[in-house]
Amino acid sequence: VFDVRPMDSRTFLRLADELAGIYAAAMRRPPEVVAQRRSIMSRHRGYAGFRAFGGWAGPRLVGFAYGYTGAPGQWWHDCVAAALGPARSADWLADAFEVAELHVAPDSQGQGLGRRLLRALLAGLPHRTTLLSTPDTDSPARRLYRSDGFVDLVGGFRFPGGVEPFCLMGRRLVASTAEPGTAAGQ
Ligand SMILES: CC(C)(COP(=O)(O)OP(=O)(O)OC[C@H]1O[C@@H](n2cnc3c(N)ncnc32)[C@H](O)[C@@H]1OP(=O)(O)O)[C@@H](O)C(=O)NCCC(=O)NCCS
Repeated sequence: VFDVRPMDSRTFLRLADELAGIYAAAMRRPPEVVAQRRSIMSRHRGYAGFRAFGGWAGPRLVGFAYGYTGAPGQWWHDCVAAALGPARSADWLADAFEVAELHVAPDSQGQGLGRRLLRALLAGLPHRTTLLSTPDTDSPARRLYRSDGFVDLVGGFRFPGGVEPFCLMGRRLVASTAEPGTAAGQ
């Protein structure tokens, strides 16, 4: 029932209101947090390796996923590097695609769209690894990531200024035609 399509950075900008609306509904965040996230997302679309996919139910955008190539100097990247320490950073962060957001509107959840968006986003990437952070609870998102080959790297992690504990998760990527979900070598 859903159509999953890539979004270039111009389309991503044009759909900024819809993207922020999906984020707000999926994460149940208040308006000030949504406004802040919207501006962060606009900045991210200029990052190297930016890649995004939208999920459509007919004319309505009901889900999205995006990420980019991690690099020193980026806020999230630097926080994660500090949490991992030098040795694990060299392993996990040196050539990483960072999954920034994945959200499906509540009325479209539980029908396979989130998994399709994640797989589309990661398919055929040239990077060695992919990383993300998610609230450190047994959420649907956590189960999705685990079942698609992500492993916990750091639990109970608090971003500077944040109160909610997050889990940093990672997955090794194989730059080949391997089926998604089979590239989780440890
Ligand atoms: C996480 C999210 C993107 C998943 O998208 P979705 O379309 O609902 O997920 P799917 O239907 O593709 O299901 C994928 C897997 O997620 C897990 N999952 C989905 N819904 C679930 C639920 N209600 N309870 C438990 N696990 C669930 C399951 O592991 C499922 O795999 P399975 O169907 O083989 O059991 C979506 O639920 C969402 O937007 N949640 C709120 C926002 C959020 O947490 N975003 C991620 C922040 S890091």
